[in-house]
Amino acid sequence: MEFSIKSGSPEKQRSACVVVGIYEPRKLSVAAEIIDRASGQFLGDILRRGDMEGKAGSTLLLHNVPGTLSDRVLLVGLGKEREFRENEYRTAIATAVKTLNETGGFDGTLFLTELPVKKRDVTWRIRQAAIVVFETLYRFDQLKSKKDEVRRPLRKITFAVDSRAELSAAEAALAEGQAIASGMNLAKNLGNLPGNVCTPTHLAEQAQEIAAEFKLNIEVLERADMEKLGMHSLLSVAKGSHQPPKFIVLHHALGSSEQKSVVLVGKGITFDSGGISLKPGAEMDEMKYDMCGAASVLGTMRAIAQIKLPLNVVAIIPTTENMPGGAASKPGDIVTSMSGQTIEILNTDAEGRLILCDALTYAERFEPDCVVDIATLTGACIIALGHVASGLLANDDSLARELIDAGQDAHDRAWHLPLWEDYQEQLKSNFADMANIGGRPAGTITAACFLSRFAQKYDWAHLDIAGTAWKSGKEKGATGRPVPLLTHFLLARAAKYK
Ligand code: BES
Ligand code: MN
Ligand code: ZN
Repeated sequence: MEFSIKSGSPEKQRSACVVVGIYEPRKLSVAAEIIDRASGQFLGDILRRGDMEGKAGSTLLLHNVPGTLSDRVLLVGLGKEREFRENEYRTAIATAVKTLNETGGFDGTLFLTELPVKKRDVTWRIRQAAIVVFETLYRFDQLKSKKDEVRRPLRKITFAVDSRAELSAAEAALAEGQAIASGMNLAKNLGNLPGNVCTPTHLAEQAQEIAAEFKLNIEVLERADMEKLGMHSLLSVAKGSHQPPKFIVLHHALGSSEQKSVVLVGKGITFDSGGISLKPGAEMDEMKYDMCGAASVLGTMRAIAQIKLPLNVVAIIPTTENMPGGAASKPGDIVTSMSGQTIEILNTDAEGRLILCDALTYAERFEPDCVVDIATLTGACIIALGHVASGLLANDDSLARELIDAGQDAHDRAWHLPLWEDYQEQLKSNFADMANIGGRPAGTITAACFLSRFAQKYDWAHLDIAGTAWKSGKEKGATGRPVPLLTHFLLARAAKYK
């Protein structure tokens, strides 16, 4: 898809289709008003006849509107003007793109990007519009032998802005939006691939490809390297699998040499069967998504590499399958982590924390400014926050604040949960330094408590994306979250150094 930004009058656009909004009930937006005047009240007459109320999600496609230079004018219903907020804006863009893709034209000019959204400026509107376009057109049909071809697919989209003064901010926002969207697409594709294709080896190869394309440094540690480092907690998870584990380290180093790095750590369980503590069969296929933390880290690296963000960022991805088998870890086994702390594995299905803890210890060598890990870690997080917000826990409140704000900004929200000492006692073990589970109460918090014991040397935050990384049911598929949150977080960090 080709994108561009324009400031100009809607009736003067030479385009296959100009898209303008209509509020409910039958109220013209500014751009619609201009077309109405240029066309001798053509739109007003149509509204009066009752063909378009302006309900959110409704559309009306008009041909040969007098006084305009485009082949078509598409009216998109926006709902009530007073209630037109972020979600309504996104819906309007999605509706427009879906409809344009089904018309005969190859290009469209969206005046919807001029619509005022409370507390949001042109930068936000353009970034979001680019992301919504990608989201609306996303298909995962790599593995279908027959693809549903769109007959005359949309090739070019132009976003309109109010004035020439906004052009340069809008161009920058467009580049950022496209970068975030392609990062999300990468994360979605990796998530949607089945476990027999997206293995730890496949993730390592994908990371190599990103490194080659954007000239990033990469190291991939093999099992023997991990053994030398003493990563026995991570390796204990890999024992039941026939796939070799990998430990991927990717460097984006466009910040100054004095700047400390932000480290991102992504959980990369390419299939979580539960191991010997085997999961029940229903929906077990969805455990191919247990590498979405890793996928979001790779997606974010792709996004910041594409916009050449002046910041130092290190991505760490511990990746393995979690499988049962004769060599697999058993409940009651005790392992020694890279930090030297011992862990009693009371449930082999609490494997995410077992691979993340060694990655958190490995992160110390970068003397990081901060570390953020991203993981589909607990079913309990879905019970607490549903599929709306990711869970956020941190050992530093200002880092937590930054991530919450980034999530708000990106329309990819997270919610702060407490990490009080009082919860730590749930992890007591009679035989080792700690157990890997803390019982049913506060499962998301005790999982983070476990991780916090390996993150004492730096500012650290943890995002539990169990509820937000993918959708179940009829619309089953990866969401690409939290690539927008993470990219906004890094954009804001880079801006601070300016
Ligand atoms: N990957 C799962 C968490 C998960 C489950 C995410 C369902 C999304 C949907 C994780 O490895 C896991 O199995 N966690 C256990 C922890 C428990 C054994 C303490 C859980 O949440 O049940
Ligand atoms: Mn598990
Ligand atoms: Zn898991």
